[in-house]
Amino acid sequence: MEPRRSVLLLALAVAAALSVAVAYDPLDPNGNITIKWDIMSWTPDGYVAVVTINNFQTYRQITAPGWTVGWTWAKREVIWSMVGAQATEQGDCSRFKANIPHCCKRTPAVVDLLPGVPYNQQIANCCRGGVVSAYGQDPATAVAAFQVSVGQAGTTNRTVKVPKNFTLLGPGPGYTCGPGKVVPSTVFLTPDRRRKTQALMTWNVTCTYSQHLASKYPSCCVSFSSFYNDTIVPCAKCACGCEHKTCVQGDSKRLAVTGKHAHTAAAVRGQHRDKEAPLLQCTTHMCPVRVHWHVKLNYKEYWRAKIAITNFNYHMNYTQWTLVAQHPNLDNITEVFSFGYKPVVSYGSISNSLSLSLLSLRDRSYHATLQRDHA
Ligand SMILES: *[C@@H]1O[C@H](CO)[C@@H](O)[C@H](O)[C@H]1NC(C)=O
Ligand SMILES: *[C@@H]1O[C@H](CO)[C@@H](O)[C@H](O)[C@H]1NC(C)=O
Ligand SMILES: *[C@@H]1O[C@H](CO)[C@@H](O)[C@H](O)[C@H]1NC(C)=O
Ligand SMILES: *[C@@H]1O[C@H](CO)[C@@H](O)[C@H](O)[C@H]1NC(C)=O
Ligand SMILES: *[C@@H]1O[C@H](CO)[C@@H](O)[C@H](O)[C@H]1NC(C)=O
Ligand SMILES: *[C@@H]1O[C@H](CO)[C@@H](O)[C@H](O)[C@H]1NC(C)=O
Ligand SMILES: *[C@@H]1O[C@H](CO)[C@@H](O)[C@H](O)[C@H]1NC(C)=O
Repeated sequence: MEPRRSVLLLALAVAAALSVAVAYDPLDPNGNITIKWDIMSWTPDGYVAVVTINNFQTYRQITAPGWTVGWTWAKREVIWSMVGAQATEQGDCSRFKANIPHCCKRTPAVVDLLPGVPYNQQIANCCRGGVVSAYGQDPATAVAAFQVSVGQAGTTNRTVKVPKNFTLLGPGPGYTCGPGKVVPSTVFLTPDRRRKTQALMTWNVTCTYSQHLASKYPSCCVSFSSFYNDTIVPCAKCACGCEHKTCVQGDSKRLAVTGKHAHTAAAVRGQHRDKEAPLLQCTTHMCPVRVHWHVKLNYKEYWRAKIAITNFNYHMNYTQWTLVAQHPNLDNITEVFSFGYKPVVSYGSISNSLSLSLLSLRDRSYHATLQRDHA
């Protein structure tokens, strides 16, 4: 059997696909996160709403330290109380004498509660530390929810004003949210499915992700090797940008440095939990993650490539992750060893993509093997 080398060069297309930086995600053009507010009841000075965050993206999950949702109140609303989440800052509530609100800020920022909070602070789909799966991975945990009791807000669907300027950190920048739009009220089915109730008023916000907004540089790079050639084609130098990046030499110094940084990192996390800088191992590419594609076999009937994924960021343990690769010859993967995978639905010219989902990159290195039949 003669190896067919021509096909192998196509593997390099993966590199291109992983480093694109455009205004939307070409591998998931319809992906979005919606934030839905359902007013469930009126109160003497406002309303109680259940806010539901649905991650309708195919593969981009919200990882630890989790989401932060923010908005600007349209009037002088306050948050009396919350269940299943909390505002990060109370703000200036000095104008209140008796009952002190949970949050008086005009631009509240809300985060999820951690798992294990007392039952009376929980509602369904809350309290996962802000971690939300992608819909394409696990629809059951692709949703988060909290309840908010809003005061000084108006108590009819004509006097309530939809908040403005919604923001979503997932975590860190990358998402842009559209305006809140009043939509037909959500209809709920009672548990016995014999009666329908509906929200008193509903509005939706849609947020979309852009790699370009998230970071100027890609977050991973691809290197390439094959059984028939000793040369390894490495990741491009500074593939993820080299400016202003400090790094640590190798594994030996790792413990010393992480130990030293641990204190600062923990102190900083409270205030700037989404801005924690990566602590990278020094490499020529300076990427937090490297994907190495090694061609192991290349016969007329099929080829087989091994993918090794390496985490160079000491500040991250990827407990849930997905690798999405695009390749002209990935449309009929016959076998993926070691990992779960699913093909990504084709969108026009973008096709032949695949995503690998695995559970943990804590051990810093993973290997998957793909096999594909030649058509
Ligand atoms: C959000 O994503 C869902 C699921 O992919 C899609 O049905 C919906 O049209 C999208 N919404 C917007 C505003 O793009
Ligand atoms: C507000 O309530 C009235 C009836 O009370 C209803 O006709 C109207 O459609 C509602 N408007 C919205 C935006 O829900
Ligand atoms: C919303 O954001 C835009 C642009 O960032 C700003 O010009 C506007 O004043 C903000 N609106 C409110 C109500 O804060
Ligand atoms: C509002 O968002 C929900 C998901 O959170 C979605 O099911 C519903 O179709 C959306 N409504 C509109 C009118 O976009
Ligand atoms: C091996 O790979 C290198 C780098 O891609 C290339 O320059 C060289 O021609 C290859 N050698 C053979 C024998 O294919
Ligand atoms: C990652 O996991 C290892 C082993 O479980 C742990 O020692 C380390 O502190 C974790 N690092 C972070 C940043 O969570
Ligand atoms: C994919 O491969 C399977 C078995 O190897 C074959 O039955 C199927 O027809 C192939 N599909 C395409 C689209 O090539």
